[in-house]
Amino acid sequence: MSEAPASPNERRTFLAIILAAIGAVTAGVFGWSIFRFLSPVERSGEGSQVRVARELVAIGTVHFFAFQGRPAVVLQPRAGEFVALSAVCTHLGCIIKWVQETQEFLCPCHAGRFGNSGQVLGGPPPRALDTYPVTLDGDDILIG
Ligand code: FES
Repeated sequence: MSEAPASPNERRTFLAIILAAIGAVTAGVFGWSIFRFLSPVERSGEGSQVRVARELVAIGTVHFFAFQGRPAVVLQPRAGEFVALSAVCTHLGCIIKWVQETQEFLCPCHAGRFGNSGQVLGGPPPRALDTYPVTLDGDDILIG
């Protein structure tokens, strides 16, 4: 039993359907990627606290961690005093580094300098680093 060959119109319709399906899948993949790229960062536990063990932050040292999806740092400038700061430079958003020898933060992008309470010491940053509330809970530091 043989079938009649497809007419040119049937072939065109078939190709149009296949191309439309491929186009729809491609648009969906690109659209979803663009949507995910432009969507705000999901911050699980927005407003929640981060717990850091005190033993990780010796006097004069720092501990970097993520706070609400962004880099942050906690330090102990003096015994029993803890300071939590955003680790995002207020100039153009680079991540600051801790310089143990000078006990200050240095931004590697344009040499912005911040003190151990986040204040600007030099360079182009227009304002101090953001600070986060700190409370102590036994052997832990609660940030946020
Ligand atoms: S981004 Fe930090 S000094 Fe420019």
